[in-house]
Amino acid sequence: MPVPLESKSLKKIYRNKGRSTTAINDFTFSVKEKGVFSLLGRNGSGKTTFVKVSTTQLTPDDGYVRVFGKDVVEDEKELRHMISLVPQESRPFPHMTPYEHVYYFQKMNGKAREESKERAESVIGLLGMHDFARTECVNLSGGQKQLTMVAMALSLDTQIYFLDEPTIGLDIITRKGVWNAINKYRDAGKTILLTTHYLDEAAFLSDEIGIVSHGNFIKQGTLDELRSGLEYDTRVAMRGRVDHRAFEPYGKVHSDERGTVLFTSQEYVEKILSDSSVRKERIEIGPIGLDDVFISLVGEDIEVDEN
Ligand SMILES: Nc1ncnc2c1ncn2[C@@H]1O[C@H](COP(=O)(O)OP(=O)(O)OP(=O)(O)O)[C@@H](O)[C@H]1O
Ligand SMILES: [Mg+2]
Repeated sequence: MPVPLESKSLKKIYRNKGRSTTAINDFTFSVKEKGVFSLLGRNGSGKTTFVKVSTTQLTPDDGYVRVFGKDVVEDEKELRHMISLVPQESRPFPHMTPYEHVYYFQKMNGKAREESKERAESVIGLLGMHDFARTECVNLSGGQKQLTMVAMALSLDTQIYFLDEPTIGLDIITRKGVWNAINKYRDAGKTILLTTHYLDEAAFLSDEIGIVSHGNFIKQGTLDELRSGLEYDTRVAMRGRVDHRAFEPYGKVHSDERGTVLFTSQEYVEKILSDSSVRKERIEIGPIGLDDVFISLVGEDIEVDEN
């Protein structure tokens, strides 16, 4: 059985009016197992371009992308029926309701009337959209429109789903509803390629995470694997003013007006807690999170404020 998604030496250059932008320089990675794979990277790092190439909307300048063994160029027609997509920044039609969007999307994809109705009802229930499913989109909020795009993609029964920032602009409760839906698809053996800037979302949902930077794929692994690649395992956050220099022997210190964050090792925690300048009620200790991994892999160094 071919792997769900494979990208080898992928390059994509945009050419506009004599200007060229290398959006993807080299994406080499593969999603070997079914489940949720999150592609994370800063703005402009090439994620949406990758989703567009993978869903046959753009062709590679070099290298290849294969989805379940099908090449995005050679097998384009076949592939289009194998994938579902939530495109970034897409908008529904103003004078159609969310229900109609899903219903007609089913019909366009060859489903009969009854099945289209059933699928539309089912995905609207899954995403908790009943209250506004029959309201024209022009009268809906930004988040309700976004959910309509998610509903369309999830209404298709495919093996792989490309979700490009599906939860952007959704409140936390609605986002958790989408997480629930994504988890159900994962449990049903689907593959989901997710992009998001909400790192709590990626940490919660992902079976594996891929990090990209400036058009290059730089690292992949489970959250634990990515964490263990870092020098420190523990994050100590201190609110209020502390003398951050006292903590420098224990690891890496970042300070700003809100407080101090120290990246350190578990073995130093007791010593840090016994420092008289630390007020216990103002300190939070925990494992290094995905945001720390992200900043250390793709962020610029944050200067320590010496004042
Ligand atoms: N249609 C286009 N024409 C020219 N350049 C483009 C076009 N679309 C994207 N780019 C450029 O390609 C690079 C990658 O863009 P892309 O949209 O893939 O980034 P992204 O990782 O999805 O970012 P974000 O997190 O902001 O959505 C950026 O430098 C961007 O300016
Ligand atoms: Mg994008």
